[in-house]
Amino acid sequence: MEEALIDADIRKARTLPSSWYSDDSIFQTLISRFSSEWHFAVHHSDLDEFNTIPLTHIEEQTKEPMLLTKTENGLNCLSNVCTHRGMLVASEPCNGKVLQCPYHGRTFDLDGIFKNMPAFEDVVNFPSVEDNLKQFPTGEWAGMVFTGVEPSKTFDDWIRPISERMSWWADRKQMERDKSRDRDWIINTNWALYVDNYLEGFHIPFVHSDLNAVLDYGDYTTELFEGGVLQIGIASEGEPFFEIPESSPDYGKKIAAYYWWLFPGLMLNIYPWGVSVNIVVPEAVDKTRVIYQGYVTDPEMLGQGAGGDLDKVEIEDQFVVEGCLRGIRSSAYDRGRYSPEMERGVHHFHRMLTRE
Ligand code: FES
Ligand SMILES: [Fe+2]
Repeated sequence: MEEALIDADIRKARTLPSSWYSDDSIFQTLISRFSSEWHFAVHHSDLDEFNTIPLTHIEEQTKEPMLLTKTENGLNCLSNVCTHRGMLVASEPCNGKVLQCPYHGRTFDLDGIFKNMPAFEDVVNFPSVEDNLKQFPTGEWAGMVFTGVEPSKTFDDWIRPISERMSWWADRKQMERDKSRDRDWIINTNWALYVDNYLEGFHIPFVHSDLNAVLDYGDYTTELFEGGVLQIGIASEGEPFFEIPESSPDYGKKIAAYYWWLFPGLMLNIYPWGVSVNIVVPEAVDKTRVIYQGYVTDPEMLGQGAGGDLDKVEIEDQFVVEGCLRGIRSSAYDRGRYSPEMERGVHHFHRMLTRE
């Protein structure tokens, strides 16, 4: 049997070869995998203002232009590509009753069904189902809406590790988008270096002095599951933590943050104040966009504890992920080794990435 690139035994394994972070053809192959995964689309509260939202971040991740619409019947994720000659139907969030292509005026209803088209009276066998906008699957959890081009798992299977563990939280909490917490970071690094860094708390004492003071480093835990990683930060003495009911396996723990990562680039950071959704968008082999969206459940908890100053933590992380890309291009470096105690999340990600 051929030896796996990343050994299943972390004690023997070597990290990803540097070409996986720096070679353009490997980059293209890896990002094609974004099409078989679920992605965060919007939160339900985003649809209070608009009934139609182009999902431009998913287009950047998968090259598939999509549109989320809200009707009386529920939510649809539609192709944002006009069935006439391929123009994008909507470029901005909007609130109309019909979708009209700005190129030659073809219209669709919010379920994506073809309605009208000027100068097409003589066209034979028209319209047909081919003239409707294609539909993509959707799933919802805790008010968050997810979609994907062709997800390989059912939504329930994909979300289950989170929905089971966090049901006590999802059942109790109402979230509101706080746009003042939105960020759009452009980072000179490879997307997988950004994910690597997210998946270990090993660097916290070295890179994040303030965060280190509010977390109990000795009790930081990493759990692996199929499709992702959960890291749990425990509050230091006097720092805020969740009130967790007895029904949860986490009852009795002073949890300051649940850091959920779902392959390949979705992070749901759940704090006592709410959720910071981080979306990793690979722009190029050496350029990554990271979108932050903040949803608040308990405003009185803002500004405190592990999720207190996310900008500072982010900028500290960017220093190391940009530095690693420069280092990784060196002729002196190819692969490293993992700490079995501290880098199980990174190893798990690399196993997923290198698996066919
Ligand atoms: S491309 Fe949309 S109407 Fe022509
Ligand atoms: Fe960090």
